[in-house]
Amino acid sequence: MPKQRILSGIQPTGKLHIGNYLGALRNFVELQNSGEHECFFMVADLHSLTEDFDPKQKRQQILDLVMDYIAIGLDPNKSVIFVQSQLPEHSELTWIFNTLTPLASLERMTQYKDKALRQKSNINVGLFDYPVLQAVDILIYKPAAVPVGEDQVQHLELANDIAKKFNSKFGQTFGLVRTLLTKTPRVMSLLEPTKKMSKSLGDAHVINLLDDAEQIEKKLSRAVTDQGTEKQMSAGTKNLLSLLENFGAPEQHQFYTEQRQNGTIRYAELKKNLAKVIAHHFAPYRAKRKELEKNPDQVLGVIAAGKAKAEAVASATLREVKEKVGLLL
Ligand code: TRP
Repeated sequence: MPKQRILSGIQPTGKLHIGNYLGALRNFVELQNSGEHECFFMVADLHSLTEDFDPKQKRQQILDLVMDYIAIGLDPNKSVIFVQSQLPEHSELTWIFNTLTPLASLERMTQYKDKALRQKSNINVGLFDYPVLQAVDILIYKPAAVPVGEDQVQHLELANDIAKKFNSKFGQTFGLVRTLLTKTPRVMSLLEPTKKMSKSLGDAHVINLLDDAEQIEKKLSRAVTDQGTEKQMSAGTKNLLSLLENFGAPEQHQFYTEQRQNGTIRYAELKKNLAKVIAHHFAPYRAKRKELEKNPDQVLGVIAAGKAKAEAVASATLREVKEKVGLLL
């Protein structure tokens, strides 16, 4: 059986937190290690330009995400790790796909509408065109499937719509892509647990993958819960138990769930134990991350090798597209 190709990406916008881990990275590592897939993992730096950013930080954010990929367990010998902007093919094919995409399809995109509300002073054309660039990221590698979270489903549907449109206009070129929806817990903010954990809420709301044991314990000690005796468990308590389920031993999760049910739970103790298991879980990541920071040449080497492997595929697809469209002279 030939391996099925998969591709996914993350925007380089700063420190990763446990929500990013449980929502995407954990799954990337599992897919890679299953041995059943040929994996492409991208740093979506062009996408990240559509939000407000500091150009002095962008280069480091890109390198940080590459280091995060490797430190969390993506292996450059098993997966293609690459930086989107190093492949001009992405931007070039985006223009061609732009001409196949109805304005109305982009106007329907909920992520665009959400972001336009959040950054009213910077509703740029790139933000609007973001899903077309994402369709290119995917289709240019002709993957079988794309692992993403729920919030990306609409973007994948658009990618398939563009594939169909292209095929019907210019001849069969792109296969349809399957959405590998990963069943992931919704990780909530520690301080406002009705909101999704997000660094835009502030550092005290999130547990970063780079936080050490002490920082994690301090943040968790301030996490909101309930009294422990109400009939309904609060969102904050649910969130902490869900984290324990994901990072702790099953017996530990069961123990505190039962204690909550019979009203004997002591949150200070739960939080201390939760901090311990989270810090322990990411200890190898933090060590590997430190080591990589000391070896920038190694990181640049991974990026160069990834670029070469991605380019072989991307340039072949672009050439095929240009030929079919009538641009190859
Ligand atoms: N839009 C994705 C996100 O915010 C990131 C992304 C860019 C992506 N290009 C992609 C994901 C291609 C999957 C495939 O999560």
